[in-house]
Amino acid sequence: MTSVTVIGLGLMGKALAGAFVRAGHRTTVWNRTAGRNVDGAEHATDVAAAVAAAPLVVVCVVNNDAVLQVLEEAGSLAGRVLVNLTNGTPAQAREVAARVAELGGRYVDGGIMAVPQMIAGPGALVLYSGSAEAFHEHAATLEALAQARFMGTDPGLAALYDLALLSGMYGMFGGVFHAFAMVRAAGEDVRGFAPMLGAWLSAMMEGMPEQAEQIVSGDYATDVSALAMNQLAMPNFVEAAKELGLRPDVLLPIQRLIDRAVEAGHGADSLTRLVEMIKE
Ligand SMILES: NC(=O)c1ccc[n+]([C@@H]2O[C@H](COP(=O)([O-])OP(=O)(O)OC[C@H]3O[C@@H](n4cnc5c(N)ncnc54)[C@H](OP(=O)(O)O)[C@@H]3O)[C@@H](O)[C@H]2O)c1
Repeated sequence: MTSVTVIGLGLMGKALAGAFVRAGHRTTVWNRTAGRNVDGAEHATDVAAAVAAAPLVVVCVVNNDAVLQVLEEAGSLAGRVLVNLTNGTPAQAREVAARVAELGGRYVDGGIMAVPQMIAGPGALVLYSGSAEAFHEHAATLEALAQARFMGTDPGLAALYDLALLSGMYGMFGGVFHAFAMVRAAGEDVRGFAPMLGAWLSAMMEGMPEQAEQIVSGDYATDVSALAMNQLAMPNFVEAAKELGLRPDVLLPIQRLIDRAVEAGHGADSLTRLVEMIKE
């Protein structure tokens, strides 16, 4: 069993450290504020001691500014692999990678596709990028947290895929919450609506491979649903929301994209054409 250090014992860091302990790894932890404990782990008194305790150092703190602050207290990272599971942008990941290299360590960035309760359970996935050699050296240990998927040697790739997946989630939740708000505002059965909504979204998701083909080919011709038709329908969604006493806020950005696409002469194309309208 490998030794591992976890820096940051917030909701996620605590779950990560607990998973390493349960998998039988000698686990050392450090948190900025004292008093956060993990049963079965050794508690280091400072960052440098935590880093010295194990060749694999996992950092999960609030953001990458905090990661850079932690690194200033780490001292040398010679012989260490730093795995940063803090949410951030691809550019931030590259910046942290450069700082870790300056301190003599090898860097792996990561994006956690799970909530703390899912860690070490089925369905949890962590995306990694950066040093392939360092990742493969520690992949078996990292598998204690979740399925481990290496996205490539550019340290920014895990963050890119993490943020892309979460962007899909936030956009979907915007629509889901609006749909629930409509049904509730009309005094209808919210519980009964949930499986209807889930089934509808699942059916819509089956079109994703075809959408990917359209995006790759640039051919947005459709015999399913044209943008011009969608443009005519959109005011009904906005009006219905207002009639129910709801803000149409989550619908308006999509309406604007549709309007711009039709104005640009793409009225006969599929909704997937909106990918092109998102480009700056
Ligand atoms: N929770 C989730 O569902 C989830 C899912 C995927 C990814 N993540 C990512 O995981 C990371 C941690 O999330 P969390 O839910 O554990 O957050 P959290 O519960 O708010 O914990 C934040 C942690 O960051 C530490 N911290 C903040 N500023 C610091 C600094 N300047 N120096 C050192 N440590 C500092 C805090 O230490 P103190 O105790 O001293 O304040 C605490 O340990 C975030 O990047 C988040 O986006 C979370």
